[in-house]
Amino acid sequence: MTAVGIDAIEIWSGNLKLDLPETFASVKGEDPDKYRKGLGLEASSFPDVYEDIVTMGANASKRLMERRGLEPGDIGRIDVATESAFDHSKPVSTYIAGCLEQVFEGDFRHANKGERKFACVSGTQAIDDAYNWIRAGRNRDRAALVVATDTALYERGDPGEATQGAGAVAMLIDENPDVLALSDEQGFGSMDETDFLKPNQQFPSVDGKRSIQVYLSRMREALEDYESVAGRVYEEDFAYAPFHTPFPGMVRKAGLLAYRHITRDTEIEDQLAEEIGRQPREDEYDSREEYEEAIREYMDALKGTERYRSWYADVIEPTLTISSQVGNWYTGSVHIARASALMAAADADRDFEGEHLLIASYGSGAQAEIHAETVQSGWKEEVEALDIDQQLENRYDLTFEEYEQIHNVHDFDKDVEVDAFTQPDGEFAFTGWGRMNERKYEYVE
Ligand code: CAA
Repeated sequence: MTAVGIDAIEIWSGNLKLDLPETFASVKGEDPDKYRKGLGLEASSFPDVYEDIVTMGANASKRLMERRGLEPGDIGRIDVATESAFDHSKPVSTYIAGCLEQVFEGDFRHANKGERKFACVSGTQAIDDAYNWIRAGRNRDRAALVVATDTALYERGDPGEATQGAGAVAMLIDENPDVLALSDEQGFGSMDETDFLKPNQQFPSVDGKRSIQVYLSRMREALEDYESVAGRVYEEDFAYAPFHTPFPGMVRKAGLLAYRHITRDTEIEDQLAEEIGRQPREDEYDSREEYEEAIREYMDALKGTERYRSWYADVIEPTLTISSQVGNWYTGSVHIARASALMAAADADRDFEGEHLLIASYGSGAQAEIHAETVQSGWKEEVEALDIDQQLENRYDLTFEEYEQIHNVHDFDKDVEVDAFTQPDGEFAFTGWGRMNERKYEYVE
């Protein structure tokens, strides 16, 4: 069967930066190490005055289309995944298409456009929709453009304020992809949960500690479900495992759980047993509490072993590079984790074609999805074309007072006038509202 998957990727960061350990922690009276070591975050990206989910998504899409020599007629579907939408009816994909039509010949009149919502997992769901559309033979030789775009802002003073971010990832999904082929097999862990939600409000209501537990539980279920169709996952199967990364510290917890799971009943568990004992099994304990205590002790010990540290350094750590510099991009988060992994492989000049990634997505509310991807021959050229390092380097570094101003600018309930900190340069910019309160955009040379 013809492979279907990711043919091209582009990333667009918000043009502003907030240094978390230096600028944010010092005003909050917090230890910078809470960010550097605890959450694993150096900085957050923020949108400037003229930026939003449309401009960032359109900018990433424009770069992708130009780089690949595409015209609107080559795209049969545009799906935008976001949890920062500003309209309950008109999808963000129509705004992004409108922007692109300003700069490309032709239009997207015959493309199916939509918007996907399930918290942070919806970017992966939009890829899924594109995959199914192509597999069903309904694409008429056209590709799908999937855009994951968010301004992940929290209420001022909310603990989540530490994990904000803003950016977009555009991905071209097509047959015979250049970068990664998706597995048919996938696993889900999905339950009705109240961990993070936005009931008719811009900023989320979050039960932060619970959200961490829900993330881990749904991930475990998704992995078990994936294994039920694809067979057991072992340590050597995957070169990298990009997870949804609200903050790198979350992935540290998930990585440890995953490692315990994939080494159970293997030679690795036997080898580790000499150092830290065997993994606790529930039937060996009189109560659930005793079993859970034993698990906690085992995990603490596992974390310190050379074997685990080396696996984490090879398979997980390289996926966190971009996230640690930009914060949470919600729907785009797992996709920048994947991009980080590919960039690490390119930096290491790795012979990578044919290797596999295990992609672990999560959305609050809550659902985890796990599938595999196989690296294709054009991966390196595509990854070397990314300019995300340069974008991050060029961000304007906000003072705390400027951060407060920009948070107000993007607060839908506030009407404030703030001058932009940067000037749009070869990118789309938000220019104001139209007669029906629609948002207006222009391409600025
Ligand atoms: N040195 C080293 N480490 C330190 C430290 C220091 N001086 N101070 C604190 N830390 C560590 C803490 O021990 C903690 O690590 P562990 O969890 O491993 O113990 C970490 O830094 C964070 O510290 P706190 O728990 O004290 O931080 P907090 O109370 O401010 O809350 C949070 C953290 C709950 C993640 C909060 O930022 C939050 O609510 N975030 C939004 C929700 C979220 O991201 N949830 C993740 C799962 S849900 C999801 O993934 C969907 C999504 O995208 C939102």
